Amino acid sequence: MAESMRGLKRTCRCAELGEKDIGREVTVMGWVQKQRNKGGIIFVDMRDRSGILQIIFEDGGIDKKYFAMAEKLRSEFVIAVKGNVTARSGAVNENIATGAIEIRAEELRILSESDTPPFPIERNSKTKEELRLKYRYLDLRRPDLQENILLRSRIAQIVRKFLTDEGFIEIETPMLTKSTPEGARDYLVPSRVHPGSFYALPQSPQLFKQLLMCSGYDRYFQIARCFRDEDLRADRQPEFTQIDMELSFVDEDDVMDVNERLLKTLFKEILDVDIELPIQRMAWQEAMDRFGSDKPDLRFGMELKNVTEVVKDCGFAVFARAASTGGSVRGINAEGQGGMSRKKIDELVKTAKDFGANGLAWLSVNEDGTYKSSFAKFMQEDELKALIAAMDGKPGDLLLFAADRDKVVYDVLGNLRLELAESLGLIDKDSYKFLWVTEFPEFEYSEEQGRYLAMHHPFTMPFEEDIQYIGSSPEKVRARAYDIVLNGTELGGGSVRIHQDDVQETMLKALGFTEERAHEQFGFLLDAFRYGVPPHAGLAYGFDRLVMLMAKQDNIRDVIAFPKVKDASCLMTSAPDTVEDIQLEELGIQVKEAEDKA
Ligand code: AMO
Ligand code: AMP
Repeated sequence: MAESMRGLKRTCRCAELGEKDIGREVTVMGWVQKQRNKGGIIFVDMRDRSGILQIIFEDGGIDKKYFAMAEKLRSEFVIAVKGNVTARSGAVNENIATGAIEIRAEELRILSESDTPPFPIERNSKTKEELRLKYRYLDLRRPDLQENILLRSRIAQIVRKFLTDEGFIEIETPMLTKSTPEGARDYLVPSRVHPGSFYALPQSPQLFKQLLMCSGYDRYFQIARCFRDEDLRADRQPEFTQIDMELSFVDEDDVMDVNERLLKTLFKEILDVDIELPIQRMAWQEAMDRFGSDKPDLRFGMELKNVTEVVKDCGFAVFARAASTGGSVRGINAEGQGGMSRKKIDELVKTAKDFGANGLAWLSVNEDGTYKSSFAKFMQEDELKALIAAMDGKPGDLLLFAADRDKVVYDVLGNLRLELAESLGLIDKDSYKFLWVTEFPEFEYSEEQGRYLAMHHPFTMPFEEDIQYIGSSPEKVRARAYDIVLNGTELGGGSVRIHQDDVQETMLKALGFTEERAHEQFGFLLDAFRYGVPPHAGLAYGFDRLVMLMAKQDNIRDVIAFPKVKDASCLMTSAPDTVEDIQLEELGIQVKEAEDKA
């Protein structure tokens, strides 16, 4: 039977108590973690968000009624206990903050009973994630998740304070809006008042924050919810949060400077980690050439080497062909891995194929100067020697090569490099390697659409000296865009925006926008630019990713209170769901019978 709290007031949280409180009378409230009945004495571990506290109910030392109630306590009952803080009678428990004390109960109330929970509420849960997500409200009671959620709140507070102190103004932008050109699919919301018309949920506040610059707010930030209907991965959710900002009268150095200081403050205050400033910068092309990735993990080496020149005339057709058809041949040196088993090498070949390679050529140099290799038989001795030298190959090393179009080669070796480092334990999990990747290509050719797309978005300023190439050879144009990368994760990105209408016009034309379509999609922004627009630039972090990395988690779901799963559904609420016919009718919407249903 559930009782009320009447007459009792909580004096503190469980783990706020310690030896300093011995002798105090306190009232604590929380959940029963565990009850152990040892005959004349009952031990209860009580839990709240601060931690665990041991309560003792002693037969004879307490009203009979309360002892009888304590006998009935089960896991997850919500109770209130009034009692005295005493030094622990048994052995001190070093594992918990309150391990040196206990509460001698004088009064007990059962505020709420609990069914047996579907899984134990404990740290490092072994329970399948699907079950935990279905009962997320119970999962969120677990201390490790609570720590993540508390950390998330602390990070948000520090960000707010830092940016406010730097003169940023927090402004909210609409959730019901028009499609923003960030390149993912939009979530649409039908309008009742305008049948057949739809709002789009924002993929980012991009256009609004640029408008705020036009309106003179100078420095804006927002911890903003964004929505993108795209394939989910461990670091992607359909709705996620950005720390979004925009600044006027600045260039990329100003944006990077304030963000470097923000990151330094955050990492110092939260993790006591000192980030050295300035953060290293690397042009996109260099990142691709050295790491096969636009978000390189700098915690280990194993850099890519371009050996196209060395093998372009060699006897191995795969290499020679890639070189003669505009592609490249590149390799990585897995130092000391020459003894890797055939089975493991075959797994690497399979991984390479999963990333789009036709194959993976490998060679290990034996101590006696002979080779074990999938392609050595096709090459002359001097060709092999030159190749091994170009790779800095020593006896005992394993060399891995991909030959293809650049894009495929980067992708294959970039990913192989990560997999190898992970499986060989080359990554120091306590180190934080930040990097700015700069000079991104402005355009990216889409095979699918048969045209150039903006790699960042259509408002990103090209390098002034590259503007001349926009019409003729767009692939040459570099963007004044920058990503902040941490340990191989893209934490955030931004750019200097175009504020001159002639440049914007050229850009939109190159992207295949007709004047009408540009006007339809973001005419309000182009119009705003006609009334005095300051030069401006900005950046947005993936807040969930930032928290994930700071909490040392591998999955973004572990730092979001109510996340969605791979198919973008919520296992707890079972959203998305069907709605009443009347709701559809009001919206003027008719749902097509799903084909497979019929
Ligand atoms: P961008 O599209 O690069 O830039 O997004 C900024 C950052 O948001 C995070 N992010 C995501 N996090 C979780 N789930 C997702 N589905 C997801 N998609 C993106 C990433 C990314 O770096 N308006 C521009 C910013 C600007 O130019 O100022 C923008 O949205 O960490
Ligand atoms: P094959 O002559 O097809 O047996 O290939 C010889 C070796 O070259 C095998 O190890 C293949 O995996 C490898 N290989 C095939 N295509 C490529 C490629 N595009 N890049 C790198 N290695 C390849």
